[in-house]
Amino acid sequence: MSLFRTKDIEAMLAESRDDGLKKVLGPVDLVMMGIGAIIGTGIFVLTGTGALTAGPALTVSFVIAAMACGFAALCYAEFATAIPVSGSIYTYSYATLGEIIAWMIGWDLLLEYGLATSAVSVGWSGYFQSLIAGFGIRLPEALSAAPGAVPGVNSVLNLPAMLVMLAITWVVSTGVRESARLNNVMVAIKISVVVLFIAVGVWHVQPVNWQPYAPFGFSGIVNAAALVFFAFIGFDAVTSAAEEVRNPRRDLPIGIIGSLAVCTVLYVAVAAIMTGIVPFPKFEGIDHPVSLALQYAGQNWVAGFVDLGAILGMTTVILVMTYGQTRILFAMSRDGLLPARLSEVHPVHATPFYATWTVGIVFSLIAGFVPLAVLAELINIGTLSAFSLISIAVLVLRRTRPDLPRTFRCPGVPVVPLLSVAFCVFLMAHLQPFTWMAFLAWLAIGLAIYFLYARRNAVLHR
Ligand code: ALA
Repeated sequence: MSLFRTKDIEAMLAESRDDGLKKVLGPVDLVMMGIGAIIGTGIFVLTGTGALTAGPALTVSFVIAAMACGFAALCYAEFATAIPVSGSIYTYSYATLGEIIAWMIGWDLLLEYGLATSAVSVGWSGYFQSLIAGFGIRLPEALSAAPGAVPGVNSVLNLPAMLVMLAITWVVSTGVRESARLNNVMVAIKISVVVLFIAVGVWHVQPVNWQPYAPFGFSGIVNAAALVFFAFIGFDAVTSAAEEVRNPRRDLPIGIIGSLAVCTVLYVAVAAIMTGIVPFPKFEGIDHPVSLALQYAGQNWVAGFVDLGAILGMTTVILVMTYGQTRILFAMSRDGLLPARLSEVHPVHATPFYATWTVGIVFSLIAGFVPLAVLAELINIGTLSAFSLISIAVLVLRRTRPDLPRTFRCPGVPVVPLLSVAFCVFLMAHLQPFTWMAFLAWLAIGLAIYFLYARRNAVLHR
């Protein structure tokens, strides 16, 4: 039964009070962090494939993915106010479902946040190279992509992807206040760019492009939803900031639900307008679908702004995901499941320095040397499984600790958490068999490490 030992919630709360991290973030920082992590590759790159899969009904796919996230977000919000401790869902499950599940979720989040930073760095590199090509600057082929990433190109490593990842690691390592400030500026620009797209694009919609609305039926809509779910990933990263927030019990739910709500409205509008401007088959082979729509409408200068917004947008996704990842490693290390170094806090910057640089170096190498085109689905499956577990954990917490103070309660328990599980499992079932195999292999490696290392070194064991 020691596999399912749980951490005492009061002990966690006490530990989080004098952890050396600075409590400086407020509600606006958190909403901006959420939007920072959410709007990126999903909307700027994957919507092209989404439109090819669902047709103009891509808009409905976005609504379905948003519902799955919305139910999960309500569960997250309850936990965030009941246990406002670093480590997000890893910590919540350690308090409710038991150590082995918590470890597997932490391992799962490594897949979500870690690979997302690498995958988004690669997307960033693509946009960046096309931007500098506009000024006639070209990188040597060898430095332009991971080996084998582009057919017919003799590439060795993706240098821009590695450099952006390392630069952001540096920012994150210098302090949470500094990271949040930079994030706020970039997020404000990217929201303006998306709003600009909507304001200009809406005048160029040709309703005839919405006919037929769902050429591939319901299955096309759901397959696209399972893919564009990627576009929503990130609101959960807000919870990893718990120990650096001034008033976490009030502000965390605002950050989680607020950022998700803003992005849902923007995404649905973008999807409707994009498919209203461009006949959807034209998205074949296009990796900049949003700016393509504007070029199609003859708005080339706005398209340039959109490209710039995409680059900034992806930068903040990398920033917030890197940040979230380091705080989860921090929490796992504090619990003894990972080496103690990873929870050492830097005396000047007050950040988990080793954890930050470990994340930065490992995932910049992955971004530089691994072709990442197929990763979005793998990241989705990791996240969807984490979302289903948190929804179950809310039900468990209501039974085991009904007394625990919560400033936010998930409405409609047990229906909402169960709907969350149902939506997540439904979307997971629509992912490719290859994704499932890779995911199961990842879980098997995680289990092996748990039994060989984590279990014996856990603070609860010692
Ligand atoms: N939601 C993030 C993105 O779309 C991961 O880039």
